[in-house]
Amino acid sequence: MSVIVSVIYKGLSIMSVTTKLSPINHAVTILREGGLVAFPTETVYGLGADATNEEAVYKIFQAKERPYHHPLIVHLTSAQMLPAWASAIPEAAYTLAKAFWPGPLTMVLKKQPHVLGVVTGDQNTIGVRVPRHPVAQRLISTFGKGIAAPSANKFTHISPTTVAAVEEELGDSVNFILDGGQCDIGLESTIINLTSSQPCITRPGRISVEAVSNVLGMEVIFEREEQPTIRTPGMHHLHYAPITITLLVATADILASIQHLQQKDLSMAIMSHSAIAIPETDHIKHIRMPREPEAYAHDLYQTLRTLDNKGYARIIVEAVPLSADWAAVHDRLRKASRIESSL
Ligand code: TXA
Ligand code: MG
Repeated sequence: MSVIVSVIYKGLSIMSVTTKLSPINHAVTILREGGLVAFPTETVYGLGADATNEEAVYKIFQAKERPYHHPLIVHLTSAQMLPAWASAIPEAAYTLAKAFWPGPLTMVLKKQPHVLGVVTGDQNTIGVRVPRHPVAQRLISTFGKGIAAPSANKFTHISPTTVAAVEEELGDSVNFILDGGQCDIGLESTIINLTSSQPCITRPGRISVEAVSNVLGMEVIFEREEQPTIRTPGMHHLHYAPITITLLVATADILASIQHLQQKDLSMAIMSHSAIAIPETDHIKHIRMPREPEAYAHDLYQTLRTLDNKGYARIIVEAVPLSADWAAVHDRLRKASRIESSL
């Protein structure tokens, strides 16, 4: 993949114009000074800070408006960095690293004692991942230490897959953004917890449960991570969600849902992937999504973000198949949407 590294200068980053640092070196300077750098990965853009600098990591939570007890993923350059961050590393971790790193797999392992509580949500475990995007790789290797980075969006919003989306989400609260173009995969990494005897996938992603089971030669279970509770009475427990009320509707019920909304005189956007015929009117915008799960995943967040900005009263998403190849997309659609009864 060829990537043009361009830069967006704001705040602190203007320094690089005078010091003539390369974008990567400039980003590294900011990380060393305790600032925040957004950077591309193959999944989504991350909001990075020096994982060993407590004050810097706190800034991530402030920028995202995210509760402090949520653990962050530490991004590394290779499995060789694992022992510096994780302890009691099982053989399975190295087997998975060999098969899938660099790539969209995050492993949860026991942490080393020095790892900051602000990074791990005060747990005794740590999430680690080696991204394969060349800009991320160069950033981490030039920095030489782990970079703590969640997705570069506000808490509960859709993850950004372009620089424009990062800017829209975080504005001036990020010191510098490295541009690596649109993210290839478009959905967050698969997360596997290796801290108990049976490996457990807690977030589905491009690397499937089956692929992990095959590599490990053992059964791997999928147990959805409990979504963080938003402790505001009456608020929906939404994650990865647009602001627009988004409904996930079975193919067979789409036309009835459209009719129902039409009767209420509500505008809507429909995202469908099957051959279903959708009427287009002034009040109905139809987006045809790809029929293949990987292409669908690539487009999903960007499409939701674009539609969200258009101010429709509702976004209706045609439910995707329940098969394993659609698991990651299905998971994100569930998290982004409200139940059909809230029509
Ligand atoms: O693809 C990705 O994973 C992106 C890119 C930037 O790498 N990152 C990302 O980070 O999606 P974030 O913070 O949005 O999601 C991280 C997930 C959270 O669901 C968190 O609970 C889980 O990883 N996680 C991190 N550390 C953990 C730990 N020690 N134990 C359990 N879950 C952990
Ligand atoms: Mg996130």
